[in-house]
Amino acid sequence: MPSLIERDLRVIWHPATHFDDHARQPPIAISRAAGCWLYDERGRPILDAIASWWTSVHGHCDPRITAAVTEAVGRLDHVMFAGFTHEAAVGLAEALVAAAPPGYGRVFYADCGSAAVEVALKISFQARQLTGDLARKGFATLDNSYHGETLGALALCGSPAYRSTFAPLLMPALRLPTPSFADHRHRDSGGDLGATSPEADRAIATLEEHADELTALVVEPLVQCAGKMRMTGTGFYRRLVETAQRLGIHVIADEIAVGFGRTGKLFASEWAGVRPDFLCLSKGLSGGILPISAVLLGEGLDAPFHGGPERSFAHSHTFTGNPIACAAGLASLRALLDDGVVEGLPGRAAALGRAAQGVVSECPAIAHWRQQGMIIAFEVEVAEDHPAGPRLGLALRSAALRHGVLLRPLHDTIYWMPPLAITDAEIDLLRERTIATIHEVLGDGQVRR
Ligand SMILES: Cc1ncc(COP(=O)(O)O)c(C=O)c1O
Repeated sequence: MPSLIERDLRVIWHPATHFDDHARQPPIAISRAAGCWLYDERGRPILDAIASWWTSVHGHCDPRITAAVTEAVGRLDHVMFAGFTHEAAVGLAEALVAAAPPGYGRVFYADCGSAAVEVALKISFQARQLTGDLARKGFATLDNSYHGETLGALALCGSPAYRSTFAPLLMPALRLPTPSFADHRHRDSGGDLGATSPEADRAIATLEEHADELTALVVEPLVQCAGKMRMTGTGFYRRLVETAQRLGIHVIADEIAVGFGRTGKLFASEWAGVRPDFLCLSKGLSGGILPISAVLLGEGLDAPFHGGPERSFAHSHTFTGNPIACAAGLASLRALLDDGVVEGLPGRAAALGRAAQGVVSECPAIAHWRQQGMIIAFEVEVAEDHPAGPRLGLALRSAALRHGVLLRPLHDTIYWMPPLAITDAEIDLLRERTIATIHEVLGDGQVRR
């Protein structure tokens, strides 16, 4: 009998994985999950320090969400969302609008983060067409940004790692400089960091110069997660949003990774006191249990789309507004708001910050570390001739798995983004296992710089 891994390697094409790496790090068969833990086929627990690609909010298989999903699936599995509606979709939209910064009117559902970005780009563009603002058809984006990998979203990615192969297929975008606060601390989030940075000045000058051609600016608030967890400053974000809105450029905030508590507030935009025109959400929207995304639209943004059928927004995804995913979303949002999770975030973030300091004090290979709420990043410096070379991330990931923790470093940047529900005891384990991982791959500190 072939094993599950052998069968997998025959038929599956995994995302973000080189075929040749399977020999070194084959996929791990997971049979169940609970809380912050994944369990492999033999029952070995693995601490999920990255919330399975930044999705899990309350921990895996949270009973409040699984109960809501079970109830929903027994009642209404799916119904097409054109011409039909249901309680779960309406209830979730109402709850999202109530929880978000004031001023959102409608919600458009899709099924993944990239699709949410596509929806926002297309609504912004079509709104200009419908209002006769025909020159405004371009998009601005930030250096080092990531917005997904469908062609529209990819065109807005700043990082060449994702876009260079497909560059000939991508629409042009105006790129803006981005500050990088390599030693950002959580306490910095409450200030106005980056507002007067040279990057902010240059970004604003560029926006002013191109204002008449731009329909929207797409931005990841505070943390560019896929961009090695670069932290860009509350003040930079505030100034950028205020400037774009003053110039009549829509702001599309991509909170797909940072929404739902990751930054220490329910939404990252709250730190800057701004209300972007579009708020894109996914990942933690369902608590991390089912694929769903949502675009919250500023009040009045739908106005140009009323009137004859030629004004309608021609965009649909088959599973838009799926009732089970919406029920999961509502249960997750209720748990965040009603069960004290958001109020508990400062305490959780402080505990994570103390553990990070513990790692730093034991690992001289760490050149910089930064924190924004429940996101921690450690940037290591390695000797040029280190045997892992460009595969440092893979070497660290494999070592972490040997130590029973799921880390997925972005090359030289090891990060934590655990479920918000992580306990003090689990944070202690995470600290110990991260230290062991770094020591195993980089030695205990004699790093040649
Ligand atoms: C900021 C951001 N935007 C968009 C996406 C794309 O989401 P998805 O992978 O669900 O398409 C991601 C995924 O990591 C993301 O981090």
